[in-house]
Amino acid sequence: MTAPWRATVLTLFPEMFPGPLGISLAGKALASGLWAVEARDIRASATDKHRSVDDTPAGGGPGMVLRADVLAAAIDTADAPRAFPRLLMSPRGRPLTQSRVRELATGPGALIVCGRFEGVDQRVIEARQLEEVSIGDYVLSGGEIAAMALIDACVRLLPGVMGKAESGSEESFSESLLEYPQYTRPQAFEGRPIPEILTSGDHAKVAAWRKAEAEALTRSRRPDLWTKRQGPRKNTTDG
Ligand code: ADE
Repeated sequence: MTAPWRATVLTLFPEMFPGPLGISLAGKALASGLWAVEARDIRASATDKHRSVDDTPAGGGPGMVLRADVLAAAIDTADAPRAFPRLLMSPRGRPLTQSRVRELATGPGALIVCGRFEGVDQRVIEARQLEEVSIGDYVLSGGEIAAMALIDACVRLLPGVMGKAESGSEESFSESLLEYPQYTRPQAFEGRPIPEILTSGDHAKVAAWRKAEAEALTRSRRPDLWTKRQGPRKNTTDG
C-alpha cells in the first residue's frame, strides 16, 4: 500500500490541530489511516534564549514579522519529502481553487506554513520557494484556519474518504456552476411547498429544472464563474 496523504503543518499553535479535522468525515478517515497530519511548532526552531520567532518590520510600521531564519529552520527540520508542495497560507496568495485542491489531493501531501503577525520575511518565501495560497479576500488572524480549510478540501477527495452520495457535489463546481437548491420532507414547510416538478417523477424535467436553477444562481451570484463557464466564445457583438 502507498503512504497515506500527509499534511505537515508548521504553526505557532500546533495544539489547534487536528481540531475540527478530527471530527466527522475527515476525522473518520484520519482515524482509519487514510491521511495523516503532523503539526510542528515553529517556536521549536527558535535559537535565542527568549525563543523569539518574530521581530519588528524593517522600515518601520505596525505589527511583527515572522523571522526568516527561524521559519527556514522549521521548514528544513520538518523532513517533509522533497516532492511535497510547500504552501504558505496568506491573504496575499493566489486564491485557492477546486482544481488546485484536486492537484494537491492527487499528490503525496503538502507542507503547509501558517503565517501569523503582519507577515513572513520575504526572503524565506523566496529561499524555500513557498507557494502563497489565500482562501479568500478577507483577513484571518492567522493561517491555521485557512490551512484547515485547504486540508479538508483535499481530504474529502481522497479515495475511500467519501461515499458515492457525497462525492457528487464536487463535480458541479468543477463545471463552474453553483449547486441547484435542494428540498426534502416535509412536503410543506411554513406554507412553502416543494417545487412541484421535483415530486413529479419526471427525471428529465427534474434534470432540466436543476440545470436552469444552477445556471440562474451562478449568473446572479457569481458572474465571474458564469463568464468562465461560457469559455472563450466568439463575441457576436463586435463585428
Ligand atoms: N491568513 C490570513 N488570512 C488568510 C486568508 N484569507 N487566506 C489564507 N491565509 C490567511
